[in-house]
Amino acid sequence: VRNPEFGTIANVHIPCLGFLTRQRIVLLVGIMVLIVTIVVVLAAVLAHGRKESSVQLLEWKGRGTTKNLQEVILGRCYNYITTVNPELRDKDCQKIWETMKNAFVYKNPCNITTEDYQPLLDLASHPVPCNKSLFWSKTNDLVHRYTKANHNLFTLEDTLLGYMTDGVSWCGSPSRPGINYESCPKWSECESNPSTVYWKMASKMFAEAACGVVQVMLNGSVDDAFRSSSIFGSVEIFNLDPDKVSAVQIWLMHNIGGPHRESCVGHSITKLTSILEERNLSVSCEDNYRPVQLLQCTSDPDHADCRLCTSNVQ
Ligand SMILES: *[C@@H]1O[C@H](CO)[C@@H](O)[C@H](O)[C@H]1NC(C)=O
Ligand SMILES: *[C@@H]1O[C@H](CO)[C@@H](O)[C@H](O)[C@H]1NC(C)=O
Ligand SMILES: *[C@@H]1O[C@H](CO)[C@@H](O)[C@H](O)[C@H]1NC(C)=O
Ligand SMILES: *[C@@H]1O[C@H](CO)[C@@H](O)[C@H](O)[C@H]1NC(C)=O
Repeated sequence: VRNPEFGTIANVHIPCLGFLTRQRIVLLVGIMVLIVTIVVVLAAVLAHGRKESSVQLLEWKGRGTTKNLQEVILGRCYNYITTVNPELRDKDCQKIWETMKNAFVYKNPCNITTEDYQPLLDLASHPVPCNKSLFWSKTNDLVHRYTKANHNLFTLEDTLLGYMTDGVSWCGSPSRPGINYESCPKWSECESNPSTVYWKMASKMFAEAACGVVQVMLNGSVDDAFRSSSIFGSVEIFNLDPDKVSAVQIWLMHNIGGPHRESCVGHSITKLTSILEERNLSVSCEDNYRPVQLLQCTSDPDHADCRLCTSNVQ
């Protein structure tokens, strides 16, 4: 009697408990399957993402893209067209930035072409008046101090194209966000990188546009005042148009106090002179062009080289 009773109780309760447990188990298993699925999917997505970025965020030896590139380029562009050269007030800086961006974002930074930059150069270039072009090599600091003091002359860095990008680094990346802020290829890693292609094109254009008498400021305190591997020696001199350029004036500047490594009759200047003359350009050279030397003297006024009439005494 008790057994059947137990059995009955058991039969009544156990199926009941069994029913609840089964529901819970189904629920638990369902939740677990869901969790496992989510974890697996997440892991797969993360692993894929990591693999993608390790494959596509290329590492280079050069400095990465300048932080806030967009703001830097836009700010410089607006500054140039409003305060530096208001004649260019009609240039569209927003469009110039978009065009610059399109030239390199999401692209392999070793595969940039002149076609990539042509729209930007068309948009941002502007003429430089005759007799006002100033080329330079190895005198970066002095030449720009001189053009800042003498607003009459233009180096490439005093044109809109050079002004916007001077000292700035930039390159693209095939993966998001399309710009590599960590590193960019150096010239030695690949020549067709965004800044090398840009500077070569801008320099070529700057030289092609020069007319009248052009000036060149070179450094006589380094071993080779003229180097054929420089932008000036490899791009600019070959793009001066002898039909437009009446003469090339070389200013060979020495550091105050020397050393005097090269003079106007030194071997590298002689080489430059013969290259230019072969191209039918007439050349003259002046050691320590006085207006520039006076500027050097502002930071070293008591030095013997800075006394009045130094050139007569020598
Ligand atoms: C480089 O760019 C050209 C044209 O844009 C393309 O045909 C070529 O496949 C690219 N090469 C690499 C290595 O990305
Ligand atoms: C450029 O300079 C040369 C020589 O100094 C001069 O004859 C010529 O008139 C100048 N041209 C302009 C446009 O100023
Ligand atoms: C010449 O080059 C040296 C080394 O780059 C530099 O320190 C110096 O300031 C330069 N001199 C002039 C006159 O630009
Ligand atoms: C230089 O000028 C001469 C005579 O005017 C001409 O025969 C020669 O082809 C020119 N050379 C170059 C490189 O333009």
